[in-house]
Amino acid sequence: MAKFTVGYMIGSLAEESINRKLAGALVKLAPSELAMVEISWKDLPLYSYDYDKDYPKVAVDFKDTIHGADAILFVSPEYNRSIPGALKNAIDWASRPYGKNAFDGKPAAVIGASVGTIGTAVAQQHLKGVLGYCNMNLMQSPEGYITMKPDLISDDGTVTVDSTREFLTKFMKAFADHIVRVKA
Ligand code: FNR
Repeated sequence: MAKFTVGYMIGSLAEESINRKLAGALVKLAPSELAMVEISWKDLPLYSYDYDKDYPKVAVDFKDTIHGADAILFVSPEYNRSIPGALKNAIDWASRPYGKNAFDGKPAAVIGASVGTIGTAVAQQHLKGVLGYCNMNLMQSPEGYITMKPDLISDDGTVTVDSTREFLTKFMKAFADHIVRVKA
């Protein structure tokens, strides 16, 4: 039975996102104690602190979903060696108004897929810095740098390469252990 709800945020808005595919695989491979729920942020406007005095409903709902999750998993591409701008915007919404940071203290993990060989490593370094500033409790190891190949993950989230499936399974088990430690 699931003990913890993990909200996962996909860093890409693309319909054919390879990171959405990766997220699908992670949902499938997650241990049974984790209930995986997508946290969508695609309808958020561009953040400005002008909104702080009267947060729009879409942002309140987004933050409520984060509050409702025990932990957050970021599954993100690397755009121009950094965090996709749209994802960074969502993080800014979650972190404000000042003193009402929805990420505060939450366990988190970061993983990502790219078509390049370094598998989003640079973007993840940037993202971890941002999430650390937001006072998230980040899993440091294992790190998940996935180079996506055609057919590595099928449309139903099945990972076709044994070593990758084993690694992703270990990654999700390690995240579950991390959540237990943080919540203890
Ligand atoms: C990319 N891509 C890319 N790949 C990479 O490994 N490092 C990078 O810095 C970039 N930069 C980059 C910028 C922009 C604007 C785009 C659209 C793409 C290629 C990227 O890995 C590929 O498009 C993936 O499919 C992106 O993941 P999603 O959006 O499909 O999940």
